[in-house]
Amino acid sequence: MGITPTCWVSVSLPAFAGNIAHATSTLAGDARLMVAVKSDAYGHGEKEIAETALRAGADSLAVLDIDSGARLRPHAGDAMLLAWLLSPADDFSVAALAKVDLGISGLWQLEKLAREVPQGGVSVHLKIDTGLHRNGALPEDWEELCREALRLERTGVLRVKALWSHLSDTSLQENELSLARFHSAVDQARAIGLTPELLHIAASAAATDLPESRLDLVRVGISAYGVSPFDDRSAHDMGFAPVMSAHALVTSVDQERSEARIGIGYADGLLPLPADTGWVLHDTQRLELRSVEADHCVVGLPSNHAVSLGDHVTLWGQPDTGSPSAEDWASWSGTIGDEVVSAMAHSIEHRFIRQ
Ligand SMILES: Cc1ncc(COP(=O)(O)O)c(C=O)c1O
Repeated sequence: MGITPTCWVSVSLPAFAGNIAHATSTLAGDARLMVAVKSDAYGHGEKEIAETALRAGADSLAVLDIDSGARLRPHAGDAMLLAWLLSPADDFSVAALAKVDLGISGLWQLEKLAREVPQGGVSVHLKIDTGLHRNGALPEDWEELCREALRLERTGVLRVKALWSHLSDTSLQENELSLARFHSAVDQARAIGLTPELLHIAASAAATDLPESRLDLVRVGISAYGVSPFDDRSAHDMGFAPVMSAHALVTSVDQERSEARIGIGYADGLLPLPADTGWVLHDTQRLELRSVEADHCVVGLPSNHAVSLGDHVTLWGQPDTGSPSAEDWASWSGTIGDEVVSAMAHSIEHRFIRQ
């Protein structure tokens, strides 16, 4: 028997499945829905999340790197898996074996593919940088990349399945400009002779606010996990439910100082907060957070509220009970909700709610 943990996250697979259905109708529309399961599915657990996404109607999965794709292939049936964070140290033959599509940004990646998988079988998505300046071929290198990809396609080394880009999501105007740049790059690639089946550029934010960016496929990440990509709208406003909630037990009570410790800290993945910022929920009572330490947090005890050793508190993710949200925690720690949930990836127990 193991030691009873003093903290854990609950991951609601039914809530996630509901979010996938909602994303299909409200974010994808007529486009296909690719669900991003990068960073251990934003800290939620990649295997369970990948299986649930596909069962709930997602078309495909975005995975970051080849090894994650190979790990998820047994859980993904024949669904398309796309990896785009490619390193010179990767073995591209692993992508061929696991049928992982590669997001290609540079000539060196095409050369490596031709060298390591000369027999062919890998589909590629050529990526153009449309303003984000993070991954993607620069416009001045695009023509050469397209020409080389076409040459390799004609010799049977690869298939150019898609052309794609990623948006900065800094403003609607910036996204519109990037979308226009993308269309020019697509025209250029087609003029060279490429015949992609798919065009994709939008993630959560653009799929919500710029429907013309949905094209053939949208790659949705954080909103499917019930966390908002926006500052001015909550995931709840968008119709998405939280999937992860974080919990801890009271591990000591100090009546003299009117404070208690709860058994979760930054070593468990909790993002640190400035002193005396934020609160957690005990029953229906808010307990103010005094500090986040390595293996515990200190909370203040209101004079009219009893707390006992072993009691349960919720840190975020159960709005029905009045708890904070992951977005609340993000605003307290000066970051985005993605980081709050993703940070819980490995060190903390994940309890899956399956029905
Ligand atoms: C290339 C790519 N597509 C899609 C996503 C999903 O984005 P979001 O979580 O904003 O929906 C990400 C996330 O960083 C990404 O890098």
